Amino acid sequence: MPPPTAKKYAFDVVVFAISQVALYYAVKYVLNSLDPMRDKKKEAKARSEQVLGKLGRKNMKLNEYEEAILGEIIFPEEISVSFKQIGGLDPIIQSLKESVIYPLTHPHLFTSPSGLLGVSKGVLLHGPPGCGKTMLAKALARESKATFINLHVSTLTDKWFGESNKLVSAVFSAAKKLEPCIIFIDEIDAFLRERRSSDHEVTGMMKAEFMSLWDGLTTNDNLRIIVLGATNRPNDIDYAILRRMPKRFAISLPNKEQRRSILDIMLKNQRLEENFDFDTLVAKTDKFSGSDLKEACRNAAMIPVREYMRSHSTSGGDLADVDPAKVDIRPLKLSDFFVPEGDIVQPTKSTVTPTVEVEPEQLD
Ligand SMILES: Nc1ncnc2c1ncn2[C@@H]1O[C@H](COP(=O)(O)OP(=O)(O)OP(=O)(O)O)[C@@H](O)[C@H]1O
Ligand SMILES: [Mg+2]
Repeated sequence: MPPPTAKKYAFDVVVFAISQVALYYAVKYVLNSLDPMRDKKKEAKARSEQVLGKLGRKNMKLNEYEEAILGEIIFPEEISVSFKQIGGLDPIIQSLKESVIYPLTHPHLFTSPSGLLGVSKGVLLHGPPGCGKTMLAKALARESKATFINLHVSTLTDKWFGESNKLVSAVFSAAKKLEPCIIFIDEIDAFLRERRSSDHEVTGMMKAEFMSLWDGLTTNDNLRIIVLGATNRPNDIDYAILRRMPKRFAISLPNKEQRRSILDIMLKNQRLEENFDFDTLVAKTDKFSGSDLKEACRNAAMIPVREYMRSHSTSGGDLADVDPAKVDIRPLKLSDFFVPEGDIVQPTKSTVTPTVEVEPEQLD
């Protein structure tokens, strides 16, 4: 048999190389199609491309974990709440602007050679349910002009993504790439509550990772990233976490003046009887939270509408035939708020006593 020529050798090498490349792609294709996360990753990628486009940073390189975190970003136009719609919390709104918005948008005001002007990298809103904590955070997201990551703990613990620690570190690395940035964690007690020996190992590791990355923010004054938390159970939060949130705002049950402001806002666009007695309503809603007041207003506003509907049906008319321009519903009266029990359920007052009773004046 004649010895193989150089040409034959070269041919064999090329065939071998091509078969290896083909094998590589075939294995990769099979593995990809077997990956249970394929659709989710695709979805996250599409969403992250969309988000980056909206942020005007189309060419930014992100890893798959950061892409998953990008799904948590909310944009001002997606939020309907503004500071104007929040009643009775003006001093807190002002302090929040000073401790959250300005450090992010005007960092030069917060630098000093002594380093004493360093910005707090953790801010906590706490107080009883229904008093406006989430509302405040939403308004901040709308008005801060910073990237707002509304971090859900479920995203970090998503079993499909597994590797919670990588997601935790992606939160901070994505925030760095997209600064100025607010990382908001609602009901933060659920995620960063006091560590117990019964905690799952992954949870413990995740918290530890979160805290150490958070420390990274504290030691670097140039990073414009703030972690904002909200909770109605501040006492359940790990002390180590509380220490990282030196700026705390107590959002307590509204007092008389605050209730008046809240009611003014809620009833602003409602037709009211002449000389509507706000003072009595304010006095009778002692210990009502903002959300209780909303419920009370909603129930009261329903009464003239129901009266109209009933009078119409008893007179034999069909509501469908009524010209919307001619609908004449009477103005709201104070007595609509005090319907006898059994007819309309009166709002349940918040039964939870404020965990920390601090008046706005006493805030740090
Ligand atoms: N100060 C306020 N001004 C106007 N509306 C308010 C105010 N506080 C509460 N509300 C009303 O109550 C609703 C619930 O408020 P929000 O979700 O902010 O409460 P929260 O403090 O986050 O409660 P929780 O601790 O249960 O999460 C709001 O959507 C709003 O309608
Ligand atoms: Mg809330």
